[in-house]
Amino acid sequence: MRKLKELKTGKAKRLYTTDDPEVLWVEYLDQATALNGKRKEQIATKGALNNQIDSLLFDYLIANGVPTDFIRQVSATEQLIHPVKMIPLEVVVRNLASGSFQRKFATDYLQPLKQPIVELFYKSDELDDPFMNDDQVTALGIASAVELVQIKQLALQINQLLIARFAQGQLTLVDFKIEVGYLNGQLVLADEISPDSCRLVDTTTQESLDKDVFRKHTGDLTTVYREVLTRLQNSEVAH
Ligand code: C5P
Repeated sequence: MRKLKELKTGKAKRLYTTDDPEVLWVEYLDQATALNGKRKEQIATKGALNNQIDSLLFDYLIANGVPTDFIRQVSATEQLIHPVKMIPLEVVVRNLASGSFQRKFATDYLQPLKQPIVELFYKSDELDDPFMNDDQVTALGIASAVELVQIKQLALQINQLLIARFAQGQLTLVDFKIEVGYLNGQLVLADEISPDSCRLVDTTTQESLDKDVFRKHTGDLTTVYREVLTRLQNSEVAH
């Protein structure tokens, strides 16, 4: 397998073609962004930490029956994936109140929710990823009503699996964002799952162990991402 030409550079990853049209090469970058890319910093080892956490979680989800675009990790900072026809949605699942939900409804931080919530956002940097309700998604032809049911089911299945996996490392999954698309006609989980796209707190102390430390300037990003990776690796034998 050879890395060929650069296809696209996003906020945290660079995508390359390979000599196989069914395979893309992903490189995780040492870059952290906030405020939709308006704040940008180089952070050494961030790419390797996210690639390792993401690869470990995707291997776990695949082993538990979740369809994904992931093939395998190929180096500390790189992995192989299948090309996917992406649906331009950010699918957020929440278990406890935080972030934009906490601000919108003036809840307490980490207030328990009676059930997990799925929220949909239109993936658009120009529009700052606006919230969308189901009717807006179907009316704009982004996904059909039937597809929306499948997307939410997949998101909630992933939520249950991730809650259990993180709990093994004494981590509470507050919320997370996924992206989905189609691979050979099947709806699959795509993009990444890492502390960039999840909120995690220590189950006992409620210490933040995710990108919130970078967003809010409350801690060192690499220290907390390394802590998440170590806890996941140390609890890997347990499942
Ligand atoms: O900011 P908000 O509370 O809506 O974020 C919910 C979850 O989605 C958080 O875990 C956050 O890290 C993630 N997210 C993301 N990318 C975005 C927006 C939110 O990964 N563009």
